[in-house]
This record gives sequence, structure tokens and C-alpha cells, in this order.
Amino acid sequence: MRYRTLGKDLRVSVVGFGCMGISHAYGKPLEKKEGIRLIQQAADIGYTFFDTAESYGTAENPHANEELVGAALKPYRNQVMIATKFGISFDTSSTEVNHPIIPDSRPEVIFSSVEGSLKRLGTDHIDLYYQHRVDPNIPIEEVAGVMSKLIQQGKITHWGLSEATEDIIRRAHKVCPVTAIQNRYSMMARWHEELFPVLEELGIGFVAFSPLANGLLSARYDLSSSFDPTYDYRSMMPQFQAESLKKNETLLSLLQEMSRAKNVTPAQISLAWMIGKKPYLVPIPGTRNPKRMLENLKASEVILSDQEIKELDQALDQMEMSEVFGGSRIENRS
Ligand SMILES: NC(=O)c1ccc[n+]([C@@H]2O[C@H](COP(=O)([O-])OP(=O)(O)OC[C@H]3O[C@@H](n4cnc5c(N)ncnc54)[C@H](OP(=O)(O)O)[C@@H]3O)[C@@H](O)[C@H]2O)c1
Repeated sequence: MRYRTLGKDLRVSVVGFGCMGISHAYGKPLEKKEGIRLIQQAADIGYTFFDTAESYGTAENPHANEELVGAALKPYRNQVMIATKFGISFDTSSTEVNHPIIPDSRPEVIFSSVEGSLKRLGTDHIDLYYQHRVDPNIPIEEVAGVMSKLIQQGKITHWGLSEATEDIIRRAHKVCPVTAIQNRYSMMARWHEELFPVLEELGIGFVAFSPLANGLLSARYDLSSSFDPTYDYRSMMPQFQAESLKKNETLLSLLQEMSRAKNVTPAQISLAWMIGKKPYLVPIPGTRNPKRMLENLKASEVILSDQEIKELDQALDQMEMSEVFGGSRIENRS
């Protein structure tokens, strides 16, 4: 197993396990027993970094994912790092399948969130606590101050920011050192590459979410794939629409060609590409399928040369591709 260090000292498996899709955004939630088994399988095969959030769940059970992660990882607690997030809820009254996000990082809300997360996760500390989305109404310095207090109290050991910009990262880091950011990053979503120099300067890790562009980069989806419009965000994601198929042909053919040449899979090439780029980058793909879970972990054994990565980047820069899902709409807190 290969490991990486995020920030100063958070040691995690080079591929982490994104637990969100078990309860949220990728179809009807799995049965509790099945979800627990899946997470334990991930720990058994060597994942040591698990990603969840207080907001991953459904209208009926909004915190379902943390409950699952807590129950599953109880016997593994000393050998794994658990990351969770605070600071958003979903507007479940909306008819959109991808419910709008309502940010809320008021200090009193964070202090109450952390207690809820600790309880559901069945642990006395959170290894990495992210602000899920920046709250435009609360200065980031105030949030960082709350993080300092939680670290002093031993309730969290590290903190991070999700979908943060350079300005926010710098301001937050000044008040309380940031261990990692967690931003969207894949061959179809490369806009955060501009943060690499800032992260290098400040010694902050990059956790890449949706690293397979929500599955598309596995090249296992086509016109016959259908997604439940009640629960599955992929039903509205631009990259899975019929008209995107043609636009993504070049990208998927390139991945298929390269994976055949190396006797690996397109998903593994996608993950190996980002792992090979930066030593502080950790992708956290999610899957409900144990075989794919192993496939994704094994991507850490696929080594691409600097030249191969550069050529892939050049090809990506030039090729046509469809739009990719960029996140749910953000609403104001009323
Ligand atoms: N910070 C944030 O705002 C944020 C936002 C989104 C996600 N996240 C985190 O990032 C994690 C990963 O992101 P994500 O789940 O959105 O996207 P992803 O990992 O890019 O894609 C997940 C999808 O890809 C499919 N998949 C995974 N591995 C595959 C493989 N080897 N072959 C074929 N299909 C494969 C899965 O389907 P199957 O289950 O059918 O395999 C699932 O539908 C989440 O679990 C969550 O923890 C964070």
C-alpha cells in the first residue's frame, strides 16, 4: 500500500474511499447492512482514508452516511483516518434532484455540528474536518478561529476547506494552518490546477473529489445507462446526457487506448494521472461495487511517467469534451 501525507502529518492511503454515494446522490441509499459491509471491505483491502459529511443522506435520514461510516469503522478506528464536513444542508423542499445547497458556518452551528458528527461517527476525534462550502456571510477567519478551538479541545486533529479559492485558503491558513483542501478535480474538471503553486507554498494537501468525473472516466457508461431521476444526480449531469456522448468520444478513446496498452482500466489511468502529478494529491473515488473499489485502489500501482502525464495534459488541453457537473446551486440562508 502506498501512503501520502496531507499537510504536515496526516498520513493516508494514496487513494481514499469516498463514502457519499452509498447514501446520497447516486441512487436509492443502500441498506444499512450492505453499506456497512462495503465500507468494511474497503478497510480490509487497505483503504485508510474515508470521506463522509454530516449532510450526506436523504430527506428522511439526513445524516445517514456518517452513521454508516461510524458503525462500519468502529472495529478499525485505530487504523483509519476519518474526514467529515460541516457547514451546509440541502434544500430538500426543492424539486431539483440535486437539491440546492444552503451554507451555514455560524460558529454556534459548527459547535453543534461537531458534537453530532462525533456521536454518529462513534469517535472522540475527527481526523480531518472540512468546511463543506464557504459561507459568504461568515468571514473565513472566524471559521478558522472555531477550528483552532476544536483542535485545542481535541475534538478534531486537522481541518480543511472544500471548494475554496486562493484568497480564502490564504486567509484561513493564517489563523489556523489548513491540512488539505478538498476540491473537484478530474480530467474533465481541471480548473483548480491553478491552486497547485499556492498549496505547494503553504504545504497544504489536495484531496480530489469526483476524480472519475462522477464515473464517466471509467468509460463504462453509454446510451444504455439510465439513472433514477428521483435519487441519482447523474440523471441531470451534463456529461451523462445523450448529446455529450459524441463530444466525449475522443477523451474516452484516449483512455481506452492507453489502458489497453498498459493492461489496466480507464478508471485506473484517470486516477494514476492525478496521483502522478503531485505528491500531495489524494483522489477519493466512490463506488458501491467491491470489484471497482479494488480496481480504484490498485490505480496507485499504475505509474505514469512525467512525459506521459505531460502528453495527457496537452491532449486534454486541446480536445473537445462536454461540460461536466460543477456542483449544485448555492442558495442564501433565509
Ligand atoms: N466536497 C464535496 O463537495 C464533494 C462533492 C462530491 C463528492 N465528494 C466526495 O468525493 C467522493 C467521490 O466523488 P463522487 O462519488 O462524486 O465521484 P466519482 O468518484 O468520480 O464517481 C463515482 C461514480 O463512479 C462510479 N465508479 C467508481 N469507480 C468506478 C469504476 N472503477 N468503474 C466504473 N464506475 C466507477 C460509481 O458507480 P458504482 O457505484 O456503480 O461503481 C459512482 O457512480 C464522494 O464519495 C464524496 O465523499 C465531495
